[in-house]
Amino acid sequence: MNNAPIGIFDSGLGGLTILKALRRTLPHEKLIYFGDTANVPYGSKSKQTVTQFSLDIARFLEQKGVKLIIVACNTASALALHTLKKQISVPVLGVIEPGAAKAAATTRNGRIAVLGTEATVKSGAYRQQILHKRPQTHVLQVPCPLFVPLVEEGWAKKPLSELAAREYLKPVLKNGADTVILGCTHYPVLKPVIARVLGKQVRLVDSADTLAQEVKQFLSSRQQQAGGKGSLAIYASDAPERFKRLAKHILGTQLSTVRLKKLNA
Ligand code: DGL
Repeated sequence: MNNAPIGIFDSGLGGLTILKALRRTLPHEKLIYFGDTANVPYGSKSKQTVTQFSLDIARFLEQKGVKLIIVACNTASALALHTLKKQISVPVLGVIEPGAAKAAATTRNGRIAVLGTEATVKSGAYRQQILHKRPQTHVLQVPCPLFVPLVEEGWAKKPLSELAAREYLKPVLKNGADTVILGCTHYPVLKPVIARVLGKQVRLVDSADTLAQEVKQFLSSRQQQAGGKGSLAIYASDAPERFKRLAKHILGTQLSTVRLKKLNA
């Protein structure tokens, strides 16, 4: 089981921010990434739909013999994690809990803001986890839907991204949160812009590194850490060439192959 791969999935490209952190922290692991490019975005879809997509992907990864599945998508973690844990035979970890725990441990003034997709915000999953760790915390949730297409276009450094950030972050500045969770896979790419708008006194919590540490601990507690050479296989449910081209904006390097895998085919 130690050398079995780890499965990671996201609605599309964004989960590559998590993949990057995992490769840095666990260089010996074999990783299989699935981006559901046929169904992206998840952030504006219903719980039932996101849960069905997530189950289909998790079953595909299960068939690949993975030892663990990581739900790299915040929206899928918020809406489908509970069902996946019940219906999938291997352990499943999501991104919400580690991010919420880190933010709860970071805030000094007890005011946390969560930036996410509409579906993540509506689910209240971050708020629930934060209050579980640190009751009495004031949690402000802000949907930032334009951030995802800006990142996918490779426009993170363009003035339009800063304009969008200035608008979305107005309530955060007004609210006085000292800790802000980047609660969507794409937002870590906008970290420099968000940090500039919010100022140095606000801490940004990026769940990618926190999750990677949690995965490391999880594997070592079960003595399931792989040795040897790590590897990476990437699947997309549609337009793999487009995925490959856009992945460069997130990974900073070119992927060699992205395989097409249609769900339920
Ligand atoms: N991966 C999604 C998330 O982290 C963002 C993109 C989408 O809406 O599908 O919430």
